[in-house]
Amino acid sequence: MTTTELETIAKMMVAEGKGILAIDESTPTIKKRFDSINVESTEENRRAYRDLLITNPDGNKYISGMILYDETIRQSTSDGTPFAEKLTNDGIMPGIKVDTGAKDFALHSNEKITEGLDGLRERLAEYKNLGAKFAKWRAVITIGKNIPTTACIDANAHALARYAGLCQEIGIVPMVEPEVLMDADNTIDLCYNITEKTLSSLFSTLKNQDVSIAHTILKTNMVISGKQCPTQANVQEVAEKTVQCLLKNVPSELAGIVFLSGGQSAELATAHLNAMNQNNKDLPWPLSFSYGRALQEPCLKAWGGNSENIETAQKALLHREKCNGLACKGEYDTKMEDAA
Ligand code: 13P
Repeated sequence: MTTTELETIAKMMVAEGKGILAIDESTPTIKKRFDSINVESTEENRRAYRDLLITNPDGNKYISGMILYDETIRQSTSDGTPFAEKLTNDGIMPGIKVDTGAKDFALHSNEKITEGLDGLRERLAEYKNLGAKFAKWRAVITIGKNIPTTACIDANAHALARYAGLCQEIGIVPMVEPEVLMDADNTIDLCYNITEKTLSSLFSTLKNQDVSIAHTILKTNMVISGKQCPTQANVQEVAEKTVQCLLKNVPSELAGIVFLSGGQSAELATAHLNAMNQNNKDLPWPLSFSYGRALQEPCLKAWGGNSENIETAQKALLHREKCNGLACKGEYDTKMEDAA
């Protein structure tokens, strides 16, 4: 694998008008999603659900890649085609979540450190054979009383850099995801400060470890009010502060930035991305999406575990994919929601 190949993959991930669909929920997380629609989380139900997401006709118009989970990358469509092969045939790049989860950070109550570095070189080699072109590692940063600590931010940045280096060594594009959670009652300005600290620590650590920034994708939270904050910043303020924070803390040579939705409603996540792209036509990197819940929620509800609903569920998913594809170009209009 040459750096040109890494560059091609990274560029394709954030190709104009396209983004990433995250379907890499771990087994405990997908169980929570299935509980919300009263569907049992069996291996076959998980396969059937991922099958409808992966085989959605026309999904490749707006989706450049999908992030899979270890179980999912080993599963196949109903006609027996391995999921990764089906995606590749449709021009969608398979990606893989490779961290093994956020665990309690020793000596730091209420903070998490993401694990998964042991044996990662060998696991990446296997995933590459299974067709993975890019990978994802998520670090969790929690806002609360006296947290996050610098220790937590730096330890997570260190793990992200070690993961990214292993990915690039084997020719897989690393998506580095430091997620500042939006569940607390903090103001948007506090979110700005913590996101700034997190990104600045991440990029200096990546540089220290000689990770090629030009062959890396950043997956980040938006700068946004905490969910429990009594004053909620509006769409324009979220867009402005997010872009300002990124311009200040993200090197211009980075291949691209994609956002997680983090618990925002599907429509708001689209409106925020759209405002950023509408107001800023000459940013150093493409701004796109890598949503899980904000793409899947309407589809999951429409499916409800019933195979008769597959077509309706796929239409709901395609609608969100299209809205977000347009938001990448600043061409989304909320009227599209009424029309749908
Ligand atoms: P959400 O968009 O649901 O936050 O999920 C994205 C993701 O992949 C989190 O790691």
